[in-house]
Amino acid sequence: MKTIMNSSDLQKKAAGEKAAEFVRSGMTIGLGSGSTVFWFLKRLGELINAGLTVRGVPSSLRTEGWAREFNIPLTDFSKTQLLDLAIDGADEVDPYFNLTKGGGGSLLREKIVDAYAKKLIIIVDESKLVNQLGKFPLPVEVVPFGWELTSNRIAELGAIPQLRVNDGEIFVSNNGNYILDCQFEKIPNPKELHNQLKQMTGVVETGLFIDMTDLVLVGSTGKVDSLKKKE
Ligand code: A5P
Repeated sequence: MKTIMNSSDLQKKAAGEKAAEFVRSGMTIGLGSGSTVFWFLKRLGELINAGLTVRGVPSSLRTEGWAREFNIPLTDFSKTQLLDLAIDGADEVDPYFNLTKGGGGSLLREKIVDAYAKKLIIIVDESKLVNQLGKFPLPVEVVPFGWELTSNRIAELGAIPQLRVNDGEIFVSNNGNYILDCQFEKIPNPKELHNQLKQMTGVVETGLFIDMTDLVLVGSTGKVDSLKKKE
């Protein structure tokens, strides 16, 4: 049976495949998470079958599963401390390359992987580009113990936090934590908000990725554009 892909899927596929062109033999690659990264991994697997030699550090159990399926050799931070390149998706990208991530719940491992890469390439479809972050509820990873209190503190910053639930069950991250999806509507100062949240007891990590991204590849109809960063 043939799967019918909508235009967003096609854009994600184009961006993911384009990112594989940045990989060179011998590199250790941070493997991000999400449906756009899936296409990168698939293409990377094809290149490996054709002779490319790389190793990857996955940022989620789901990515690890896909990487194994595509025969991508894996390693971890006990064997390598610096990655040559990381490829990851995003839920929102602003003109200054600030990101909201964590829609899939992997923000903490993604941030660790992305932070230890010499270069971070973000791959998205056009729908992820925004003038200001905030429409997409900001995922914040919190310790399960006392999450209600942490949620109340976050609400004091003007957000409506919602405990993430999947199929009637509380969503538990790969690290055993909960996710609060925090609707801010507008995040005029992402760095300040990130710092405020990080200071709260109970907050493990935020989905705001600031000053980390080197390149944004945007899949659009029939092409992939490299976004120009606003300074
Ligand atoms: C995973 O936790 C996220 O940070 C993803 O990178 C983000 O949600 C993008 O996902 P898609 O590529 O599936 O849109």
